[in-house]
Amino acid sequence: MINKGNLLSEGKAKSLFETDQQEKLLMVYRDDTSAFDGKKKEALKGKGEINNKFNAHIMKYLEDNGIQTHHIETISENESLVRRLDMLPVECVVRNIATGSICRRLGVKQGLVFEEPLFEFFLKDDDLGDPLINDNHIIAFKWGTADEIEIMKEKTLIINGLLCKIFSEVGLTLVDYKVEFGRSGGDIILGDEFTPDGCRIWDKETGESLDKDRFRKDLGDVVESYQIVAHKLGISI
Ligand code: C5P
Repeated sequence: MINKGNLLSEGKAKSLFETDQQEKLLMVYRDDTSAFDGKKKEALKGKGEINNKFNAHIMKYLEDNGIQTHHIETISENESLVRRLDMLPVECVVRNIATGSICRRLGVKQGLVFEEPLFEFFLKDDDLGDPLINDNHIIAFKWGTADEIEIMKEKTLIINGLLCKIFSEVGLTLVDYKVEFGRSGGDIILGDEFTPDGCRIWDKETGESLDKDRFRKDLGDVVESYQIVAHKLGISI
C-alpha cells in the first residue's frame, strides 16, 4: 500500500506526487488536454484513463524489449507508480514522416517519408515555446553530457524501431513522437509517458489522424480515436 504525498509538479495533462517511499512517485493522468503552448485547453472525459493504460502497455512492451523505463505499475484507473528520476530538460523527437512543426520551421512539404528516422532535440521550456536545440547547446549549457546525448539518441531510435513494428502490424503508421529521459543511479531511463497525446499515429489505409492532432485541428472524436488505437494494439480499456 502506497500513500500519496505532496504534489511535486503539475503538467498540462499529468500531475506528479511524492509517495511515502522516497524513490517512488505517483503519476496521475488527468482528462485535461492542451495544445499550442497551453492556449487551447479542454477536459476530455476518459482521456486520463486511456492514457494511463496506453502508457503502461507501451512501457511494458519497451521493458520487455530491453529499454529501461520508470514505469512500475498502474495502481488505479488513472494513476501509475513510477521511479523517481532526475529528468534531463530536453525533449527527444523522432520523425518518420514530415508533418507538424518541421514543416512550419523549414518550409518543407508535409508527407515526405524520411529514408532514415530524423532526430531532433527541443528544450523543455514553456515560456520559450520549447525551442529546437542541438547537441552543442546541451553541452554548453550543461543540460546533459556528450555521453547522455548519445544514449538518448540511441535509445530513442531503438524505441522507434520497436514501436513502428507494433503499430505497423495493426495497420497504423507511427509518424512521429516525443520522449523524455531521466537519470537514476548512473543510468539513463525512459521517463514521462508514451501516449497519443505525444505522438502522431495515422491509419495506414485512410491516412486519418488518430492522435492529439484531432484536438489541435478540431477534428472531434479525440478520445474515441485514442480508443481505436488502444483497441488495435490489444490494450483493454
Ligand atoms: O510539434 P511537432 O511537430 O514538433 O511535434 C512532433 C511530435 O512530438 C508530435 O508527435 C507531438 O505530439 C510531440 N510533441 C509532444 N510535446 C511537445 C512537442 C511535441 O508530445 N512539447
